[in-house]
Amino acid sequence: VTRAAPASEPGAVAEVRRLLRAAGYTQAGIQAAVGTSGEQLAVRAERPVYVRRLRDDGPLATLIRLFILDLPLEEDEAERALGTAALRALETLRLVRRAGSALQGAVRLVPHDDLLIASDPPADESHVDHVPGMHRPSAQLAHLTVRSPVRDTLDVGTGSGIQALLAARHSERVVAVDVNERALAFAELNAALNEAGNVELVSGSYLEPVRGQTFDLVVANPPYAISPESEYLFRDSGLGRDRVSQELVREVPSVLAEGGFATVMVSWAHDSDEAVPSPVAWLEGAEVDAIVLHTGTEDALTTAAAWNRDKVGDEEAYGEAIDRWLRYYEAEGIAALAYGSVVMRRRSGANWVRPLPLPLRPVGPAGAGLLRLFRNRDFLEGLGEDDGLLDARLRVTEGAVIERRAHRTGSAWADTEASLRLGEGLRFSASLDPMAMGLVLALDGERSVGAVLAALAEESGLDSAQVRASGLPLLRGMLEAGFVEPARAQRDEE
Ligand SMILES: C[S@@+](CC[C@H](N)C(=O)[O-])C[C@H]1O[C@@H](n2cnc3c(N)ncnc32)[C@H](O)[C@@H]1O
Repeated sequence: VTRAAPASEPGAVAEVRRLLRAAGYTQAGIQAAVGTSGEQLAVRAERPVYVRRLRDDGPLATLIRLFILDLPLEEDEAERALGTAALRALETLRLVRRAGSALQGAVRLVPHDDLLIASDPPADESHVDHVPGMHRPSAQLAHLTVRSPVRDTLDVGTGSGIQALLAARHSERVVAVDVNERALAFAELNAALNEAGNVELVSGSYLEPVRGQTFDLVVANPPYAISPESEYLFRDSGLGRDRVSQELVREVPSVLAEGGFATVMVSWAHDSDEAVPSPVAWLEGAEVDAIVLHTGTEDALTTAAAWNRDKVGDEEAYGEAIDRWLRYYEAEGIAALAYGSVVMRRRSGANWVRPLPLPLRPVGPAGAGLLRLFRNRDFLEGLGEDDGLLDARLRVTEGAVIERRAHRTGSAWADTEASLRLGEGLRFSASLDPMAMGLVLALDGERSVGAVLAALAEESGLDSAQVRASGLPLLRGMLEAGFVEPARAQRDEE
């Protein structure tokens, strides 16, 4: 360990927990105090505004100054606001450091729902062992994790420990691995602060320390940037191209127990005319069923700029970094870079792999939606030909939303557009033509698909073979995206 990392002394942790609780150091409390909202608790550039909004010197404002706004504070000021015992506890845990007569927060401390996560302050980013807080891919992984109660969970590249702590709530035991000793220190502190006694922290590289063991759930948000550097452990794997994503996708199945799920955040070098995402090929022969969610593709310049945003204040350094990355992409023949998440389930038997575009980020927990996609795909695999669908009883997924737009023409309203979208989690949506709309409205989970299609043909006066020929593939697509499901599956859930 080259730089200071937090300690986890139990007495001091209990004191700090009491302090934070009593001060109302929660997401809502902090947002109200600095007048911000949304997923980003505080944007650094807005610091002058936040400071002016903090009206008093009470404990909450003092904690916000130290751990969110990264502002120095006179020691006696801090002591008056927080009390001597609490201040000593913060020092014991190395959460504050002295700078002359002033105190400075040594960590960023952010509540995420009811979890408290300590990480390195973003301003300190320029160190190889920087431990980032919860960022966009962390939230995406958290949403795309299947959250059934399980025995053993593995978190690969735990960093601050956020994924491990989320999993600790529905796992008997969580093993969290990282090569960065500072990350392990942060994860240990965060486990203690959040009273998660079932997280085991293990030092080592990726799956190496757990070979030979199996887990019911595996989550991994590895340093998947396709990068020419080894500048940051959290960003650069140092393995070149998309090897880290590829190796994890290929190897995670070997530590998954039968029936266990895994979600791995990935990136891959993308050919513009690529028909299916590369992770589909990586999974060839693997003993898992998998859904490859492709969240987006960016050109080389956009990617190089995005991964070097930490240098944005220094135009020359920023420009040089972008050029270095662009030269690397050019030498490697990489014009575009794709991002996504691979969700797998270990199952012996004939396996399937499905690519699915996921253009909108999930806005909430999508584990139940993912389970539905797996169930629906299993159901389709079991049917064989389209005709097998005719006897099925399907219904629209709970919480789905239909949106219709009508235009006034003459003295009447004409429906011009309609769409169906999933209410939360996986935000898939699809436009509905009149035929699809008729089907969606008619699927009641009681009548068979055959009966629904026959009734639609009769109502519309269309040829019944034609309605069947267009209706069956449509329903198959709706099952694949989770808009509909077998009525039985939904009853089982209830
Ligand atoms: C993008 S961060 C993810 C942190 C956290 N899991 C999250 O979701 O916010 C990647 C993490 O992988 C860790 N890491 C990098 N190389 C590793 C390796 N060879 N083995 C294990 N972990 C590694 C980094 O230290 C970092 O904590």
